[in-house]
Amino acid sequence: MTELSDRVVEAQRADPASPEHAVAPQRAVRRPAARGKVAAGELVDIAMTVNGTDVTVSVPARMHLADVLREHLGLTGTHLGCEHGVCGMCTVLVDGDAARACLLFAVQCEGSEIVTVEGLGAPDDQHPLQQAFSAHHGLQCGFCTPGMLMSSYDLLANGPEGTRVDPAGLPEEMSGVICRCTGYRGILDAVADVAAEHPEGLPGPRNCAARTLVGRGGGHFTATPGEAVETSGLALPREVRMPGGAPSATVEVTSTLSAPIEKVWEVLDDFDQLARCLPGAELVEVLDGDRYRGRAKVALGPVKLSFEGLAQVIERASAENRLRVLAQGADAGGSATQADIRLAAAAGPDGGTVLRADAALFLSGRIAQFGRALAGDVSRRLFEQFAEAVDETARTGCAPDVTAGPSPVKIAVGAAVDAVKRVAARGRRRVQAAIGRRRAR
Ligand code: FES
Ligand code: FES
Repeated sequence: MTELSDRVVEAQRADPASPEHAVAPQRAVRRPAARGKVAAGELVDIAMTVNGTDVTVSVPARMHLADVLREHLGLTGTHLGCEHGVCGMCTVLVDGDAARACLLFAVQCEGSEIVTVEGLGAPDDQHPLQQAFSAHHGLQCGFCTPGMLMSSYDLLANGPEGTRVDPAGLPEEMSGVICRCTGYRGILDAVADVAAEHPEGLPGPRNCAARTLVGRGGGHFTATPGEAVETSGLALPREVRMPGGAPSATVEVTSTLSAPIEKVWEVLDDFDQLARCLPGAELVEVLDGDRYRGRAKVALGPVKLSFEGLAQVIERASAENRLRVLAQGADAGGSATQADIRLAAAAGPDGGTVLRADAALFLSGRIAQFGRALAGDVSRRLFEQFAEAVDETARTGCAPDVTAGPSPVKIAVGAAVDAVKRVAARGRRRVQAAIGRRRAR
C-alpha cells in the first residue's frame, strides 16, 4: 500500500465533494490488507479474482487498475477515456459495486473480486443488457459501451430501486458515463427494457468462471507453491485444468489420409511423433502422468509469439483410436492460450483413414486481439498441416525433424488469405443485398 494510494482512498471516503464522488455514482472500495510503505515505481504482487479467475500480477504500485486489466491481463474491453474519473469509460465492478478503474490503484484491489465487461457475457451467451443494447441500437462507435453496460448493471443490481427503477429517472442515473457520439436514447431504452423484463432482479454476470490462463507481462498463473513447473521464468501449474466460460474459438477439421488407420494411430499414440507433426511445436521434456513440456511458435504477420507450455493427455482410447489432450502455454510478451483437443481416427476409403480434430481454444493477452475468426482460421490451417504431416509420418515411418516441421509462417499466410476472402465475400453479400433492396422498391 503506498502513501499515495492511502491518500486517494481516504479522499474518496472522507470527502463527498471530491471529484471522485461528484462524477461517479459508485461506492468506495474495500481497503486492502496493510502493506509496508512501497515506492510508487516498486513492483508489488497483487492477488485478486478477475472474472472468476484467481490471478496474481506483479506491477508498479502506482499503476491503476484499468492499465493492469488492459496491459497485463489482456482485458481490453475496459476502455480508457479521460483517466480523470469523468467519462466513466473504465467502469468495472469491484466486489460487486461499480468503480472507476482509472481512479483505483491496482494495489487497492488486493483480494478483491473484479468483473469487467468480458465477464458480463460471452459472444454466444450475452447478458440481457448486452442483448438489449444490441436490439435498441444503443451504440454507434461502441467506445462508451463497456462503461454503459457495467454502470447500468450496477444501477439495476445495486441501486435503491433495483430493476424497479423509474424510467424517467434513467437519464440522471446513467449520467455518470458519457457517450460522445450517439445513442443515449437507445441506451436508456435498453436499460428500461431490461429493468421491465426482470422485475424479480437482474441476472448475474454470465461469463465468470475459473480459467487457468489469464496473465500478461508480469502476471503469472496461480499454482500451489512447490507444484509449479518453472520454464524460462514462467511458472506453469502442475496440471492442465479445463477452463470455464465460452472458448475464444472452436475448430473442427476432418482430413482424409492415405495411410491405414493402424499406422496413423501409431503416430498419434507416440507423443514425440505427434508433437513433430504439429507446426512450430517442439517437445522439450517428458514428465510423469502423460504430461509433456514443450514450446511452440506462431507467426501472424509482424506478430511472432513463442509459447512455453504444458500438454497433458487425459484420454487415450487405443481401441477406438481416440486421444484427448489439454494444452496450455504462455509467452513472455503476455499472450496465453489453452486448448482442449480431441483427435479421432476412423477407417477411411481405399484403406486410408479419416482423421477428425476438434479443438476449443481459449486465448488471452496479445494473441486474443487476433479475433475469433482469425484465431479459428490459424487453428484450422494448423490442423490441416498437422494431418498432412501425420499422413506422411504414418506412410514413411519417419516423423519430421524438430526444426523441419510444417511452417508456422505458411499457416499465417493461409489464414490471412482466408480472412481476406471472408471480408470480400461479406462485401459481395452486402452489395447483392443492397441491389436486391433497390429492385424491390
Ligand atoms: S477513463 Fe476512467 S472515468 Fe474516464
Ligand atoms: S457509442 Fe460512441 S461514445 Fe457512445
